[in-house]
Amino acid sequence: MIGRLNHVAIVVPDLAAAAAVYKNSLGATVTDPVDLPDHGVTTVFVELPNSKIELLTPLGDASPVQNFLNNNAKGGMHHICYEVHDLNASIAHLTAQGATVLGDGKPRIGAHGLPVVFLHPKDFCGTLIELEEIAAA
Ligand code: CO
Repeated sequence: MIGRLNHVAIVVPDLAAAAAVYKNSLGATVTDPVDLPDHGVTTVFVELPNSKIELLTPLGDASPVQNFLNNNAKGGMHHICYEVHDLNASIAHLTAQGATVLGDGKPRIGAHGLPVVFLHPKDFCGTLIELEEIAAA
């Protein structure tokens, strides 16, 4: 069901500093920051030849990643995003398997303007998983 690794997301306390680390120390190409008020985060993407790293920092008072940062002051790995071709079919399969889709269980528009859902870490080896629907090639 899952396809390519789309990105690994890292929550950081200082987005500009994190982007500079990836750009200057690691020599990667990084995008400009984008505010996603619906998701309560600001993101920078690190473009890799085979995937992306999503750097996330809280935006606003009710950010879903603030708690993560409270528990991990220096930041840390937050979620892994896999691509799927049919998100609604994937949700149906996963719920039939007993997995928990977070929120209201319905797709929302994610950082790339594509439908996404998040899956509870308890069902996936302690890892928060994002599924993003990518048009079939
Ligand atoms: Co993500």
